[in-house]
Amino acid sequence: MPTASARPVLDQAPATESFREAVLTGLRKPQKHIPSKFLYDERGSRLFDQICQLDEYYPTRTEISIMKQNVEAMAQAIGSRVRLVEYGSGSSLKTRVLLNHLDDLAAYVPVDISKEHLIESANDLAEDYPSIPVQPVCADYTTAFDLPDPPMTAARTVGYYPGSTIGNFRRADARDFLRHVAEAVGAEGGLLIGVDLKKDIEVLKAAYDDAEGVTAAFNKNLLRRMNRELGATFDLDTFEHRVLWNEERGCIESHLQSRGDQAVTVAGEAFAFEAGETIHTEDSHKYTLDGFAALAAEAGFHVDTVWTDERSYFSVQYCTVEAGRKS
Ligand code: AVJ
Repeated sequence: MPTASARPVLDQAPATESFREAVLTGLRKPQKHIPSKFLYDERGSRLFDQICQLDEYYPTRTEISIMKQNVEAMAQAIGSRVRLVEYGSGSSLKTRVLLNHLDDLAAYVPVDISKEHLIESANDLAEDYPSIPVQPVCADYTTAFDLPDPPMTAARTVGYYPGSTIGNFRRADARDFLRHVAEAVGAEGGLLIGVDLKKDIEVLKAAYDDAEGVTAAFNKNLLRRMNRELGATFDLDTFEHRVLWNEERGCIESHLQSRGDQAVTVAGEAFAFEAGETIHTEDSHKYTLDGFAALAAEAGFHVDTVWTDERSYFSVQYCTVEAGRKS
């Protein structure tokens, strides 16, 4: 076994995607828009961790409690000697619940785009679970990437995608992502996924617009990041955090709304904002159980088991690749 510090990382990181290019392209559109992945710089990631502790933000604690209450059934559904591939790391608490109960893992493969974060958490896990071969992969998991050869023959490959991160994708993109996963895990494979569910709109809105203003600070951090990294001239006090429920798309939309008419310079380019105009910064899609089953089916997955909480706020679902589907 290699030592922790020498742990090889299968590096398939894409060329650093330009924050500048994404911002300029997005701000030139009639509905100004910046991809939500740019919310997660160092400060943004810290603020997101704080969001997970908020009373209003039910998803994290609800998912963890579903995991803890049902982990034995989940482990049974997943089976023994599997290769577990986690799409996006950071939720190590949930992963550990699973690793504690999976029998004789062939390999644990954490996939993440952030190499430092990946190496750190892979090393921590390898130390705490010395019998589990950990094979980190640095890649943008929304595109196709190669898995390392498992160190021993695995009974099957199972994906793990917690946190309802699937909710950040528009429906068609969510379907395409799930198709990639179905291909990666192959004909005998499975997927354990956290999916946030539709519920009372006021509960949803509060989860994304908490009383303490942590989510507002998380959203406004994007303005701060543009000021710092792109020499932008945003005055944070002239923008407000706004969330709305889009009934047609079934998602919470997060926006930054200009209080008045103003001009802002970003990377040397001037952008005009009218009073009330917004920058769209994030979507968080919510599903019904039927709605998610239909989406999964379009990607070639069959939902085998659904675990949920007493209020049916959140779900963890085990899906298998539909029989007869060839990858
Ligand atoms: C990390 C994408 C699952 O959409 O609920 C939380 C991000 N944004 N509060 C979500 C988020 C504002 C979160 N995900």
